[in-house]
Amino acid sequence: MFKKTPVAAGIAALASMMIVGGVAVADADNAHYYTEMTPHELADYLIFEADGFFLDQEVQEGGTTHQRMVQDDMHKACSVIGGGDPDQETLQAVREAAAESIVYPEGGIQLGDWERGRELAWSGFGYRVGHRTDDHSARPVGGNCYNCHQMATDRTGGNVGPSLTAYGKTRGTSEAILKYAYDMIYNPHVYFPCTNMPRFGSSGFLDEQAMADIMAYMFDPESPVNE
Ligand code: HEC
Repeated sequence: MFKKTPVAAGIAALASMMIVGGVAVADADNAHYYTEMTPHELADYLIFEADGFFLDQEVQEGGTTHQRMVQDDMHKACSVIGGGDPDQETLQAVREAAAESIVYPEGGIQLGDWERGRELAWSGFGYRVGHRTDDHSARPVGGNCYNCHQMATDRTGGNVGPSLTAYGKTRGTSEAILKYAYDMIYNPHVYFPCTNMPRFGSSGFLDEQAMADIMAYMFDPESPVNE
């Protein structure tokens, strides 16, 4: 998504911003004073105006990068202007909308193939835009779980979300816990309204089989998650 900038020019730009310290610093045409902008204004400026992103690049699923970055209703509800947390009424509305979005498999929630689930949980492939926009008709879309969760002890994951190590081993595989995990992957706003965890089911990123495989990776006693 970033335009390629010669490294030297990038460093020069960075250096010129830093040398002046707290004083208002202008870009080339002296029109934009970065240090006078709020973080919100600066983010808006850098993304939508500074021409640093290929916003009109077409994305595989239709539309452009710009359209992809426009907030949907949930994003809008959860983004409190001026900062802070959404009020209780908003959280409740987000929770209800999330519950309505969840579709269950016809034969009930099933566990698939943990080995395939492992591949998917550790893959961030799909829906990425940039110089080499992902072609997810050629390779399955990953769940990217590892970026936020520690999952098994054989690989190192992120810590944005809680560790999922030994998930099935410690929680069992009752209908209730399988439903909870399914809901969390499908649309986590049903339990954690305005969470940072993506909505893999309702966004269409993961299909029924991919969700079943990732759940097998979390719950199957043979999976490294439960070693
Ligand atoms: C961008 C970060 C992020 C990604 C990617 C992500 N999660 Fe999460 N996840 C979270 C956060 C944060 C929480 C805790 C909920 C909260 O406090 O908002 C969470 C909570 C969970 C929980 C509930 C844990 C519990 O026991 O209560 C499960 C299960 C889970 N995630 C599974 C997954 C799976 C499976 C994937 C991949 C398909 C995934 N997550 C991808 C951030 C993420």
